[in-house]
Amino acid sequence: MKGVILAGGTGTRLFPFTKIINKHLLPVGHYPMIYWSIIKLGKSGIKDILIITNKDDLNDFKTVLGNGNHLGVNIVYQIQPHAGGISHGLSYARNYVKGETFVLLLGDNIFEDSLLPYIENFVNQNEEAKILLKTVDDPERYGIANVDKNTNQITSIVEKPQNPSSNLCVTGIYMYNSNVFDHIENLKASDRGELEITDINNIYISKKKLSYEVLKGWWIDAGTHDSLFRANQLVQKQFNQLGSEDNE
Ligand code: DAU
Repeated sequence: MKGVILAGGTGTRLFPFTKIINKHLLPVGHYPMIYWSIIKLGKSGIKDILIITNKDDLNDFKTVLGNGNHLGVNIVYQIQPHAGGISHGLSYARNYVKGETFVLLLGDNIFEDSLLPYIENFVNQNEEAKILLKTVDDPERYGIANVDKNTNQITSIVEKPQNPSSNLCVTGIYMYNSNVFDHIENLKASDRGELEITDINNIYISKKKLSYEVLKGWWIDAGTHDSLFRANQLVQKQFNQLGSEDNE
C-alpha cells in the first residue's frame, strides 16, 4: 500500500508565518509538522509516500525531507499548481497510486493512534473507502458526519455546517481504492471554488461503500494558531512521557 500526504494550500489561518514558510514545515514538537504524518505511515508499514505541495514550496520540502531515507521511507513529490481543494490536490496522485489502494493524510493533522489496525481492517474487509472520525467541541470547523443510530452507517457528511447535527468530525485520514480518481474527474467545484473531499465521501455514501471507525486517542487539525499551539503541547507531552524512541 502507498501513502499520499497533502501539504499544499495557502495556510491563511496561520498568517503571517505562512507568508514565508509552508504550514507543514512549521514546528510541532521538535520536528516540522509533516514529519508526524510520515512517521505514522512508516510505522504502519507504508514506506512509499507521495507528498503533494505548491510549486513555490517544493524545494523547501526537498531540503528538509529529501528522498526520506533518513526516516526509513521513500518520498517522491508532485506539484499541485493551485490550491483547488483537497480532491483537486489528490487528483495529482493518480499516476503514482497506479490502481492500488492507498492512505491519504492531510499533512496538518496530528494524532495519537497507530494507523495499523485501521489499515488492516480496510484491507482485510476489501473496502472501497474508509474514513476515521473523532468527536470535537467545535464542529463548525470541519466536515461533520451524520450517523444513523439504527444501522450505524454514515448517512451524510456536511462540510463546515452552520448548525451541526453531530460533533463527529471527519479527520484528514482517508483510505481509498483507485476508483476515487474517476469520481474526482466528475466532481464540480463547491461554492468556495474547491473540489471537496466531502463531496467524494458523499459519493461513496450514496453507493453504500463508505466505512468508518472512530479514533481512540487525541487528534488535532493544526491549521490555526490555537490548534498549532495545542498540537505542540500534546506532542511534547507524549515525547516527555515516552521518550523519543517510542514517540516516533
Ligand atoms: O482536518 C480535517 C478537515 O480537513 C475535514 O474535517 C474537512 O472535511 C476537510 O475539508 C478539511 O478541512 P480544512 O478546512 O481543515 O481544510 P484545509 O483547507 O485547511 O486543508 C487541509 C489540508 O489539505 C492542509 O494540510 C492543506 C491541504 N491542502 C488544502 C487545499 C485546499 C492542499 O494540499 N491543497 C489544497 O488545495
